[in-house]
Amino acid sequence: MYKVSIQGGRRLKGAIQISGAKNAALPLMAASLLTESDIKLSNIPEVVDIATMQSLLTIHGASFELMNGKTSKKRTLLIRAKKIVNTVAPYDLVRKMRASILVLGPLLTRCGHAKVSLPGGCAIGARPVDMHLNALKSLGAEIEVEEGYIHAVAKDGLKGAKINFPSVSVGATENALLAATLARGETVLHNAASEPEIVDLINCLKKMGAKIEGKGTRTLHIQGVDCLCGTEHKIIPDRIEAGTYAIAVGIAGGEIELLDARKDLLEEVLSVLCLAGLEINETEKGLRVICKKNRIKSVDVSTGVFPAFPTDLQAQIMSLMCISRGKSLITEKIFEGRFMHVPELCRMGAKIRISGQNAYVTGAEKLYGASVMATDLRASVALVLAGLGAEGKTEVNRVYHLDRGYENLEKKLKNCGAAIERVLVH
Ligand code: UD1
Repeated sequence: MYKVSIQGGRRLKGAIQISGAKNAALPLMAASLLTESDIKLSNIPEVVDIATMQSLLTIHGASFELMNGKTSKKRTLLIRAKKIVNTVAPYDLVRKMRASILVLGPLLTRCGHAKVSLPGGCAIGARPVDMHLNALKSLGAEIEVEEGYIHAVAKDGLKGAKINFPSVSVGATENALLAATLARGETVLHNAASEPEIVDLINCLKKMGAKIEGKGTRTLHIQGVDCLCGTEHKIIPDRIEAGTYAIAVGIAGGEIELLDARKDLLEEVLSVLCLAGLEINETEKGLRVICKKNRIKSVDVSTGVFPAFPTDLQAQIMSLMCISRGKSLITEKIFEGRFMHVPELCRMGAKIRISGQNAYVTGAEKLYGASVMATDLRASVALVLAGLGAEGKTEVNRVYHLDRGYENLEKKLKNCGAAIERVLVH
């Protein structure tokens, strides 16, 4: 087991290469199950969730080839699902990563049946999959849940339908979209998610021959086709990773150029950071983030569906607000109970009070290093960020959470002057 050890108080200076988006890559990998031809995905991030999805797709019969050298920007994964040999997604893999449920739609629409383990709850709340299942039922699937598994059958194939999501779900939209591409007739998804990762998925599916209209809006029209073909696709840069490092500059101070970061994917985040006193400019290569001030201003933040502030940056922005001048209200509207980082931040000297979906943060002059741990990916990175600005040493345990979604986190920060290293715990 490893932990990450950070000596706080170093300003950051340099450049960070933003990797491809994990949350775009996962549904794109699932999409490879829709065709027997080659799907070539470039800008694949080297993170554990991608390896988990690779293991899952291998069980279903996909083969993989990693091409084009070592840098993440050039890393290309060729996926070929010539024949689906197994339509069961086992508990052992699904429990590791909830996004495994994204194979349900593709397997069902291509093979007429699938058995996928229920993902169960996780650290950020109950996270049900009812909307995924209801959408597939609307497309004609018969679904039963037995002994922890979702059994889905569509003997005569799926049939297009009108689906009205009761609330916005990224994953349910992706599953329905993937399934509808090969269904008979037209599917209309109302109240669909319009996150950039969904736009990326639609771009790739269209190159594969899918007929989809409404990209980037909350209503999608999908005209089912008989089969899809192979294609090449470059994954969008990770807006959450970019936002995380931009916030790191606010906490540690200094100046960083985020290579390949895209302003259009981060408008709300950047406007919050500008209100907090950071300076952010577009450059030829990405975004430059500068924090000259000793003390940043407090800002109220409320998470929401795109283009609102992403829930996946809520924990990180809270770390920043903990050292701001004044009080801020942080409201989490997407997930219940996504405040596990709060007690850990408080152990570092933060002043935060939680009431329902609200966190009331009173900025402190500084935080103090401590030994901390978190139970999910974004909460863990929020503690790393807090450690960068804290006085003394912070040790973040359970590093495997970070490895699920951040490529070379320590290396990227170290290159910019942070005193951070991974230490083996005996
Ligand atoms: C995806 C992202 C995750 C991000 C989240 C919200 C991936 C791999 N993960 O997760 O990082 O935090 O979007 O932007 O892309 N819900 C239901 N029933 C369902 C499905 C969802 O009630 O069937 C609820 C969830 O519990 C949650 C809300 O809907 O409260 C939004 O979740 P959803 O958008 O589905 O998140 P994920 O797709 O799981």
